[in-house]
Amino acid sequence: MALAQHPSDLRRSIEQNLETLRTDRLDLVYLRRADQGPGLLSPEDQQVPLAAQLEVLSGLRAEGVIGGIGLSHVSLDQLREALPAGIVAVQNIFNLADQGDSDLLRLCEREGIAWVPYFPLGGGFGNLPRVVELPVVQEIAEELGATAMQVGQAWLLAVSPRSVLISGTSSVHHLEQNLAAGDLQLTPAHMQRLEDGARAAGGSGA
Ligand SMILES: NC(=O)c1ccc[n+]([C@@H]2O[C@H](COP(=O)([O-])OP(=O)(O)OC[C@H]3O[C@@H](n4cnc5c(N)ncnc54)[C@H](OP(=O)(O)O)[C@@H]3O)[C@@H](O)[C@H]2O)c1
Repeated sequence: MALAQHPSDLRRSIEQNLETLRTDRLDLVYLRRADQGPGLLSPEDQQVPLAAQLEVLSGLRAEGVIGGIGLSHVSLDQLREALPAGIVAVQNIFNLADQGDSDLLRLCEREGIAWVPYFPLGGGFGNLPRVVELPVVQEIAEELGATAMQVGQAWLLAVSPRSVLISGTSSVHHLEQNLAAGDLQLTPAHMQRLEDGARAAGGSGA
């Protein structure tokens, strides 16, 4: 996958997206930073200040080419720096087994920014903890007659009113299950058990 980080590459890649999607406007564009793992890292010629990237995106927004600016894979300091540009969504890794970005979530809540955890099911990079493997998730799933995947997603929805789920699937059956996760009611007692269980399993539970 090609990384577009440099300001001129950012504009060019958005123009390519418009062409591919046969549209003249993108409602939301995420700037995916690549300063830290896991995943893609910027090569030296693509290491640019966030401010320069936000200037390009703000310009495109002023032109009406993009509707809103989102950030992905950012640190708390980077989100703070970007707030004056008007950020509408943040997409970082976050799930019950990996809550390292809880501080970002709280800042998003205070600022009214959508929280869009990626790898909501703990998929992707093989070395990341997997929510469905936590014993407490499996126990609660059994008690509720749900799947462990559904409990993991219901936790994300319950943990913040700003959460928006983007669980990936190539299966219609899984998609239906994922949609039904929105109807699963986790009580405060379930939430506490999930937090305790994630912590006991050695994850970065809050
Ligand atoms: N910003 C970034 O840097 C970044 C990086 C990676 C991903 N993302 C975004 O994050 C979103 C999710 O990423 P992802 O799809 O890689 O990870 P994910 O949602 O955490 O996991 C997807 C995996 O879970 C399985 N799955 C989904 N629903 C299931 C169900 N109900 N039961 C059993 N298995 C189920 C899928 O298999 P099946 O296909 O068999 O259902 C797939 O293997 C995507 O929109 C992606 O674009 C963003």
